[in-house]
Amino acid sequence: MIQKPKGTYDIYGEKGKQILFLRKLIRALMDKYNYKYFQTPIFESSELFHRGVGETTDIVSKETYDFKDRGDRNLTLRPEGTAGLVRSFIENKLYVDAGPLKAWYFGSMFRYERPQSGRNREFTQFGVEAFGSNDPMLDAEVISIVVNLFKMLGLKGIKVNINTLGDTESRIAYREALLDYFKPHLDELCDDCKARYSKNPLRILDCKVDGKSDILKNAPKIEEYLNDSSKEHFAKVKEYLDVMGIDYVCDSNLVRGLDYYTHTVFEVTSEIESFGSQNVLGAGGRYDNLVETVGGPSTPGVGFAVGIERLLLALEAEQIDITDDENLDIYAFAMDKEEKTYVLSLVNNLRLNGFNVDMDFKDRNIKNNFKHADKLEAKFVIIIGKDEVSNKIITIKNNNTKEEFKVKLENIVEFFDEKLSEE
Ligand code: HAM
Repeated sequence: MIQKPKGTYDIYGEKGKQILFLRKLIRALMDKYNYKYFQTPIFESSELFHRGVGETTDIVSKETYDFKDRGDRNLTLRPEGTAGLVRSFIENKLYVDAGPLKAWYFGSMFRYERPQSGRNREFTQFGVEAFGSNDPMLDAEVISIVVNLFKMLGLKGIKVNINTLGDTESRIAYREALLDYFKPHLDELCDDCKARYSKNPLRILDCKVDGKSDILKNAPKIEEYLNDSSKEHFAKVKEYLDVMGIDYVCDSNLVRGLDYYTHTVFEVTSEIESFGSQNVLGAGGRYDNLVETVGGPSTPGVGFAVGIERLLLALEAEQIDITDDENLDIYAFAMDKEEKTYVLSLVNNLRLNGFNVDMDFKDRNIKNNFKHADKLEAKFVIIIGKDEVSNKIITIKNNNTKEEFKVKLENIVEFFDEKLSEE
């Protein structure tokens, strides 16, 4: 038996319905905010992620799926969506008209991580990226998208954590302060943090191993190293969140696992007790240097991504049902094989007129056809026998009330329009 690769999963049944429902809801939400849909390749040049996400990040140094194609090119399955969007923004010269350019995406990402609940090797992200404005109001808009999505779904146990990493100048000053501070404590830190010390000392702050130690608690705080414009930017973001009535908590140890952030960073977590350790449902921030780093003109950006599987787990933990009422309107069957082609043409016509219709493909008897219609939760059943074909009168049963109707073939669309609008 060939099995699916570790850390991947199949989507079908209820999960399939839920994912489609979320996609539809997200699409409608994105129209409300005027973000445009983007789809970029699932694999990109490996170099893009090395430059974009950063050499020192766990994602690039330990978790990418790298391969060479038959033309000897180094390619990588995308571990996240931002770098690809930035590449597309530059390659398609979208900066010419970025007033700002607001994009959204929904698709598979790949990371070679240790699988557990809420952590997969292939997972789905919904994300947005907005390029071309450094207005802190855009940071607040981006945060409001995640919060409003979760509100629309009815999630209650969520928390928004925010922090600022400041601009490049502030970040350099803070980095120096951290290097000075951690130097005499290096022996007391875990091996990962020892490596982070020289590569990216900020990452020591969100270490899961050393996280609770006094060394980390007493480490210098970013607030003390922010220049005036960085302080101002963060104060404005908070002011705008207040204006929109969005609750948040400031967490000065929130640094995020990707190198590209400047100014605002944020994470939205599920605080439901049973949720488990992978409780960050969505995260993002501002990245004012990334477009330039990847080779484009200096352009600020801000965005986030939500993990769709984790969102589904959160909905389950809060016992929130999300499925669309996309059930079958009509199930049709023939009494005899001779009438099957008539059923096919009728079904085709009904589908063209906008109804959700299925038919019998297994030549069931009447009893089993009605059982099958129940299983499919069809609202109406069409029964076609010799009389129906010769008289052009269709027999229809309401599958709930069992009421029977005889409808002229030419009136059938009108009939279903009327009956289904009453449902
Ligand atoms: P990230 O924090 O790496 O950020 O991922 C965002 C979200 O994707 C996480 O909060 C989580 O819900 C989900 N996620 C990440 N890894 C996994 C996994 N292995 N299994 C299941 N879900 C996962 C980014 O990817 C940035 N590109 C976000 C961003 C966009 N920043 C600015 N713009």
